Amino acid sequence: MSLRNTSLADLAKHVGKSTTVHAWVTHLRSSGKVAFADLRDGRGVSQAVFVKSAVSPEVWERYGKLTLETAVCITGEVRANPKAAGGFEIGVRDLAIVGASPVDYPIQPKEHGVDFLLDRRHLWLRSPKQRAVFVVRNEIEQAIHDFFYERGFLRTDTPILTAAIGERSGLFETQYFEEGIAYLAQTGQLYGEAAAAAFGLIYTFGPTFRAEKSKTRRHLTEFWMIEPEMAWYDQDDNMDLQEAFITHLVQRALTRCGDALKTLERDVSKLESIKPPFPRIEYAKAVETLQAKGSAVKWGDDLGAEDEALLVADYDRPVFVMNYPKEAKAFYMKENPADPRTVLCSDCLAPEGYGEIIGGSQREDDHDKLVARIKHEGLALETYDWYLELRKYGTFTHSGFGLGLERTVAWICGLQHIREAALFPRMMYRLKP
Ligand code: 4AD
Ligand code: MG
Repeated sequence: MSLRNTSLADLAKHVGKSTTVHAWVTHLRSSGKVAFADLRDGRGVSQAVFVKSAVSPEVWERYGKLTLETAVCITGEVRANPKAAGGFEIGVRDLAIVGASPVDYPIQPKEHGVDFLLDRRHLWLRSPKQRAVFVVRNEIEQAIHDFFYERGFLRTDTPILTAAIGERSGLFETQYFEEGIAYLAQTGQLYGEAAAAAFGLIYTFGPTFRAEKSKTRRHLTEFWMIEPEMAWYDQDDNMDLQEAFITHLVQRALTRCGDALKTLERDVSKLESIKPPFPRIEYAKAVETLQAKGSAVKWGDDLGAEDEALLVADYDRPVFVMNYPKEAKAFYMKENPADPRTVLCSDCLAPEGYGEIIGGSQREDDHDKLVARIKHEGLALETYDWYLELRKYGTFTHSGFGLGLERTVAWICGLQHIREAALFPRMMYRLKP
């Protein structure tokens, strides 16, 4: 027998009728003659009203056994009630306890420390704010696919087990049969470039892994990245696309996730100002500005989190920092013809101190320059033989970028820490639950 009953999210369609719901209890209060149970079923919320004189003695007694997070099956008449959470209530006729919940349910309506909550992530997910985060994350994921689909990009799924190192951050390694060491992908980009030569416009969207020993509020060891790669796009085209992309994601969250953003108490006026054009600042200029603001950054350094926050403080929208020194960036970025000490790249920094959400660049398309860079970085040339052939057989101007999903969700939701943007976050000190 199917247990698929009416969802609390669909009560509007059942007003004036008797219906059955499955749900969990989130709050209880009783005056002796009338009792209430607040309900949640994951999709919606409602309240169940028990009138002692209108239900059987058994049902009334069963109500007395309810606790926080008891799973219940309730039948009753649906009524509109603007004061009830969700706008509707159920006048209960019947109640069955499906799954009892002992009174020691760990997450109570009071302040808990974040480590306590993370240890109980499997239960913490049930709270309204956590649900709101995943409503927004879901909308952003869908908006990402829509954005690229509408522009004719092919989604390609790149391997997670790889031999070639893509970025400079830490690597997770595993022995791969007789073939040597395999790394968990830090990026899908190198394969994305091969796909762009084959299919023109592509994007990858998958999990990426970085064994980073950083305990910051922006780092996970496992996160999802969206990496478009575009044949015949130069770095300016690349930034134009990023601008349109970010604006699209923010707009989608604003137009379709109003309730979730409200639950998260997000100041949406900060999101409403996200419109092109985004300021584009040369790295050298950014360093000067930061030094004038008291930062110790020097030409040649990558920008740290504090520098990024300092730089964006003057703006109400994301900012591109362009053309970093070669030494600060990955080997595959194209040398800047106007200043060969630098590369044609940009980091896109989110406002409100959320830091880098996108790293992107035009790719080095000159075979010999790329070989020199790989050698200079001390990387094993033989693992890049296939990648170099993309420059041997019909090399082409191309560019791409990577957007970190969890950082973007954290920013749009206004979260203090990236960990809440992942269902079960993986961090240096956390592999459980
Ligand atoms: O700047 P990154 O390292 O760029 C790349 O991986 C390129 N291959 C992208 C490309 O051009 N196709 O990473 C891109 C983005 C960052 O801007 C950030 O949003 C996110 O990935 N990111 C992380 N997010 C969470 N935890 C981490 N440890 C992250 N490292 C990078
Ligand atoms: Mg980066």
